[in-house]
Amino acid sequence: MHAIGVDIGGTKIAAGVVDDSGKILAQVRRETSADDVASIDAAVADACRELETDFEIGAIGLAAAGFVSPDRTSVQFAPNIAWREYPLAENVGRLLDDDVPIVVENDANAAGWAEFQFGVGRDATDMLMLTVGTGLGGAIIVDGSLVRGRWGVAAEVGHMRVVPGGHYCGCGHEGCWEQYASGSALVRDGQAALLAQPDAGARLREIVGPDPAELRGPQITTAAQEGDELAVSLLANLGRWLGEGAASVAALLDPEIIVIGGGVGAAGELLLRPTRQAYNQQLSALGHRPEARIELAMHGNEAGIVGAADLARR
Ligand code: BGC
Ligand code: NA
Ligand code: ZN
Repeated sequence: MHAIGVDIGGTKIAAGVVDDSGKILAQVRRETSADDVASIDAAVADACRELETDFEIGAIGLAAAGFVSPDRTSVQFAPNIAWREYPLAENVGRLLDDDVPIVVENDANAAGWAEFQFGVGRDATDMLMLTVGTGLGGAIIVDGSLVRGRWGVAAEVGHMRVVPGGHYCGCGHEGCWEQYASGSALVRDGQAALLAQPDAGARLREIVGPDPAELRGPQITTAAQEGDELAVSLLANLGRWLGEGAASVAALLDPEIIVIGGGVGAAGELLLRPTRQAYNQQLSALGHRPEARIELAMHGNEAGIVGAADLARR
């Protein structure tokens, strides 16, 4: 059965038709605004309608960047999007006005499921997925199943406190892991570094232009790949936060593989090397236990689409 998966992030949505083997057959994108939740409903419905003209669709999965209700219909809360007790499936269903069932999943759970089912975690039984984007998302697979928790909101690892009194988080607390290990944190630190260190990051400055506020994550990756030292150190810092935090999660879960997803995965080894190094440095009992592999998501930034579609048709 073909299903549609829609990944709904803070600034854009990406929707795709996915076949039973996890392959994306067609894809569309829409820009959205995180403050205007009705416009997100409309964009999602519009993207689905476009995909439904060319394919017979049996189910729609919406991967939402927030805390999803246990019946998988609503988003109860989101730190970076204005959803509060929001009936997402119902709203999109009303706009689509057909009988295709709609299921809402947490975006990182969807991405993790895709990697576990069809991607780099397919031979694993115990996996941690971290999605690095506007926020930091998590998915946990233990003994072959997705851990949902009692009320569906397990694996919100981005809101574990890593710095007492640290940066303010969209969830209302301070010092959450996502304030240090996310695309937003990377850009925030990059902008600050461009302002504070006028002699650093020559290539990065060239790419960004005169105003540091124009800095975007992919520019950091590009500059780092071209050898810009500031950009390399920004990615290394992100990797360090990811790796150290992952070692704490490993104390709890003992995963065999840790999968890193999200756009910043494009940085490849520039991100993975410092992540692995920090993980090993922080891992308790190093040398007396096996170390988890740390790998990039095979589906890259498209894991959420694939996983949402697959979870919806189950
Ligand atoms: C949200 C999660 C989401 C993650 C990645 C976090 O801020 O709390 O629900 O999975 O961002 O989008
Ligand atoms: Na999650
Ligand atoms: Zn938080």
